[in-house]
Amino acid sequence: MTPCPASAPETHPATGLREAALQALQLRDPPAKVAATHALWQRLTDLPDGGGPVLAAESARRLEAPPTGLPGRPDRPALVPPADVPHRTPFTPEGLAAQIHAIAHIEFNAINLALDAVWRFAGMPADYYRDWLRVAHEEATHHGLLAGLLASMGHAYGDFEAHDGLWTMCVRTQDDITARMALVPRTLEARGLDATPLIQRRLRQVATPHALRAVEILDIILRDEIGHVAVGNRWYGWLCEQQALDPVAHYRVLARRHAAPRPRPPLNEAARRAAGFSDAEMAALTAA
Ligand SMILES: [Fe+2]
Ligand SMILES: [Fe+2]
Repeated sequence: MTPCPASAPETHPATGLREAALQALQLRDPPAKVAATHALWQRLTDLPDGGGPVLAAESARRLEAPPTGLPGRPDRPALVPPADVPHRTPFTPEGLAAQIHAIAHIEFNAINLALDAVWRFAGMPADYYRDWLRVAHEEATHHGLLAGLLASMGHAYGDFEAHDGLWTMCVRTQDDITARMALVPRTLEARGLDATPLIQRRLRQVATPHALRAVEILDIILRDEIGHVAVGNRWYGWLCEQQALDPVAHYRVLARRHAAPRPRPPLNEAARRAAGFSDAEMAALTAA
């Protein structure tokens, strides 16, 4: 992969917000990507009317994928197949750091996929872009919190091997925004809603100061992730309505077409309902 810029370029005010999202996505250095993503959200919220008119004006523009390849990411962590990521117990300091690193990696990827949702898909309402810029800003906060915790443990993001499952689904759905909304936020991120309370329970058993700090950070993440899955549900529902598609039946088609992972029980029913899953969708997920 040809190298992307390592640090945040000064974005000229003439650079569109969606174009700036693409620039942030290309950044390789995690702190630079985090800073550029926060700056982008700040720029949006400083605009009159929350940036709605500017986003509406930018919506129609189709942006070209850069020849450098996406996303920009650092040389480390090394990416390996999911089955090759070693499972470590969090009851040792090294194992705990590895577990926190795995979540920091998910959050780094989550910044990338939120930014990708902004630049890649033209023709959506202004609120769509605003929602995803907010998601990117929150993912950058999550990654920053976990990177800080890793630093306090004598580690850094990049120290352990990681896998690329989240971005793989981004690539599979790059030509179909309905599939992207169905399978990234409301399938992969929704699995995080189910998994987080289980991880927290384990970390409470570990009960070291670092493990308990991780539990606190995961409280913030779980709260925000309900909102991210809700963004996915909002726009998946909107897109289905525009195309006169039945959301439950079409989800089955998309999940099969793109080999989406199934939810792992137990489902976090309260969080999923708070994120807007309907009775019919919950029944279909439980049956799956
Ligand atoms: Fe997150
Ligand atoms: Fe998220």
